[in-house]
Amino acid sequence: MEKKFNVEGLRNRRTFWLLIVGTVLLGNVNIGQAQKKQPAAKVQTEKGLKDYYQNYFPIGVAVSGRNLTGPDAKLILAQFNSVTPENCMKMEVIHPEENRYNWTEADKIVNFAQAHGLKVRGHNLCWHEQNPKWLFKDSKGNLVTKSVLLNRLKDHIFKVVGQYKGRIYAWDVINEAIDDSAQNFIRKSEWYKICGEEYIAKAFEYAHQADPKALLFYNDYNTERPEKVERIYMLLKRLVDAKVPIYGVGLQGHWSIFEPSEKELRDAIAKYSSLGLTVQFTELDMSIYPWEKLKRERRQGESDVLTPELEQKQIDQYKMIFKVFRDYKDVITGVTFWNVSDKHSWLDEYPVMGRKNYPLLFDQKRKPKKAFWEVVKF
Ligand code: GLA
Repeated sequence: MEKKFNVEGLRNRRTFWLLIVGTVLLGNVNIGQAQKKQPAAKVQTEKGLKDYYQNYFPIGVAVSGRNLTGPDAKLILAQFNSVTPENCMKMEVIHPEENRYNWTEADKIVNFAQAHGLKVRGHNLCWHEQNPKWLFKDSKGNLVTKSVLLNRLKDHIFKVVGQYKGRIYAWDVINEAIDDSAQNFIRKSEWYKICGEEYIAKAFEYAHQADPKALLFYNDYNTERPEKVERIYMLLKRLVDAKVPIYGVGLQGHWSIFEPSEKELRDAIAKYSSLGLTVQFTELDMSIYPWEKLKRERRQGESDVLTPELEQKQIDQYKMIFKVFRDYKDVITGVTFWNVSDKHSWLDEYPVMGRKNYPLLFDQKRKPKKAFWEVVKF
């Protein structure tokens, strides 16, 4: 006992002196800094979306390289704590030829995120759109076999996921595999035509092998329409039952002031999460027009003015969806907006070229809209 007491005493004395020396040293550092008259560190005084939601989930934004400097970068750093590359990780861009990868813009975004402590969601590894020409064909121009295509998928996933291993925390592994028509199940894409449904599970397995720590998502749109919920649920259940390494479901959230309803949204979240999957809203925006899929010309006289009525509908809808998100914070692990501000969004070109849209929480001058203030009022 006696001995132990002495040893303890010695330790305590050592700790005491270490504290003293430490304090003096730190003090000197501070004095040194003060003497050099360094400008006071910039303190962010205004709260951003990410701060209001810090006890809920990360708030992300889809970006391209050109958003990483100037006023967009400032807005991103003030408001968001996660980014998703909008286009540059899609296969067409990142893997344009069989033996060539193009990392330039993707590296830029990941480095920016790392430098500023933002999370990165990878988007995406396997999709029916924006694929490079070489992918499904052999050198003679014939469709490749299933084993060739699965090997190509594996190489692609190993290379891309490997490139950002440990720096990208979540991947959209499969994007939009469910068909648009209620009569069909899996979309009849080249992936499906060549490999059958199996390519889906395989993609998750490859991604998991490439980075066992990355959180893997199935991602899709119109995910709250009751009929589509059933088909997505069916696919997810098959994957979960087969012990495929899937972690969550990404609900894109390309919504409008007309849908989803509160009930549809709640039902969808409840249904998907009943499988033990986490839910993320991965591409959120809120069009002021009804949803349309096919590209078309602007009709004569078709207005693109944000009237007070439309604005009010958007405010109400944004308020409603964020209330629901907060209610489900136990299963929601991220909400990502698709683009930074109304100054420019992909909805200015799609589905109607040149028809202005106003889908985000920041206006064309990058200032918070009324909807923003409703979203952070809780
Ligand atoms: C889908 C894709 C996204 C993007 C949008 C439009 O939702 O998942 O990558 O192409 O369409 O920008």
